[in-house]
Amino acid sequence: MTTSVSNRKSSLPPLADGEFILGSARAMLANPIGFLTEQYLKHGSVFRIQAATQRLTVIAGAQANQFVTKEGTNHFRSWEVWHPQDTEFGAKSSMISLDGADHAQMRKIQKRAYARSAVDGRYNDILGIVQTEIDTWQPGQPVSVTAAMKRIVTEQLGQITTNTSPREHIPDLLKMVRTMLFVYVTKQYPKIMLLDPRYQRSKARIVNFVREMVQAHRDMPKGTRAPDLIDDLIQAQQDDPKFIPEADLLFAAMGPYIAGLDTAANALSFILYTLHQHPQVLEQVKTEVDTAFSKGDLTAESVRGMDVLHRVILETLRLYPIAPALTRTVSKTFKFDGYTIAEGTGVLIGTTVPHFLPEHYKNPHSFDIERFAAPRAEHRRPGVYVPFGVGSHTCLGAGMAEAIIMVSVAGIIRGAKLEADPKYKLKIISTPTPSPDDKFALKFLGKQ
Ligand code: HEM
Repeated sequence: MTTSVSNRKSSLPPLADGEFILGSARAMLANPIGFLTEQYLKHGSVFRIQAATQRLTVIAGAQANQFVTKEGTNHFRSWEVWHPQDTEFGAKSSMISLDGADHAQMRKIQKRAYARSAVDGRYNDILGIVQTEIDTWQPGQPVSVTAAMKRIVTEQLGQITTNTSPREHIPDLLKMVRTMLFVYVTKQYPKIMLLDPRYQRSKARIVNFVREMVQAHRDMPKGTRAPDLIDDLIQAQQDDPKFIPEADLLFAAMGPYIAGLDTAANALSFILYTLHQHPQVLEQVKTEVDTAFSKGDLTAESVRGMDVLHRVILETLRLYPIAPALTRTVSKTFKFDGYTIAEGTGVLIGTTVPHFLPEHYKNPHSFDIERFAAPRAEHRRPGVYVPFGVGSHTCLGAGMAEAIIMVSVAGIIRGAKLEADPKYKLKIISTPTPSPDDKFALKFLGKQ
């Protein structure tokens, strides 16, 4: 039985441009979304890429995103792509590696802790963490933005999702997460990198930190504060110990850092970049932020009122997607745009390709926050705006990410006078999530 979105005759999908032996590896490393978009425009919505040892069939475009939304659970599995990462921690599974009913159950357990509502009432904590970072900046000196955003976001995620400060462990978390993503997800590093003693030491210290954090939660009398991710995992383990054995619980406790650290921090870096490239928009955001703070402490309502800032975030995530594509394995053969894609095929879903197509976005390569305002609302068509993924694994932390990002940008703008370096030319690096390179710095002129 196959599912089809077209009647065209099947044949092997075209092979994307590539070099001898390396295939598309270099182009995919240099600019994955640029390459996927170019190949989509050349070959259409289905093509194959060979990148060094990896062979993947790409499906891309708004129709592909709609297909995954409607039919994804019937035709795709996450298991092969994500399960190897579980084994690194002796876990039998994790939310991102599970499929079907088990995935739905795991998502339900962790949903509350990752929801936007988990940030409500924590705005002053988020702002306090931003201010602590600003207090370390020296007037007249450049601030290396991505590194600073990683320090801020790590602490925020730890406080909000686990009521625990990971501050002393930031270098270990960064080393561990980065190595794991490179080896297991993008496969840019060989497995031998996992034997690197520096990685091993970082991992051991993080496992120890997480173990102590879980024990501290077990020792805490119930009802002392609102339950967080760790409390919910402990409760779920008590309800069904086979579903969440101890190793799985410890791995899930690292989830906010594995899923949220690079993604939210890199998004913040790009947002500070775009804002400082567009001084008029920055001025509008400053006015909005001042208005919001003039009413007292930030509230969910005053944050919602920062419409220009919200559109800056939407536009930055469109133009600089942090998760440009998703990898899956076909669990049941299907037809797409005339091609039969067989069970067992490795698939790359080029989710954010539509972000760069003129049929959806006017001048897609230019930064334009008006495209999100009525009546244009260019993003409000199915499958064309996909920064947080599609299908059953769609980002569970999207609401939380948006709230953290909005409040953090507001805190930075309110707390610090920053100046762009006119000589800086944006270079995007993938480590492996895309971010501005280490040369992206803003000069700290002083506190506001
Ligand atoms: C701008 C920032 C972020 C972006 C662009 C982003 C993007 C994504 C994408 C594309 C996926 C789907 C992965 C897949 O299907 O293979 C995902 C999954 C996920 N994200 Fe995010 N994310 C962001 C921030 C966060 C944050 C801050 C958290 C929480 C602390 C978070 C938690 C998660 C979780 C738990 C999943 C797995 C959901 C599941 O497997 O069902 N994300 N994210």
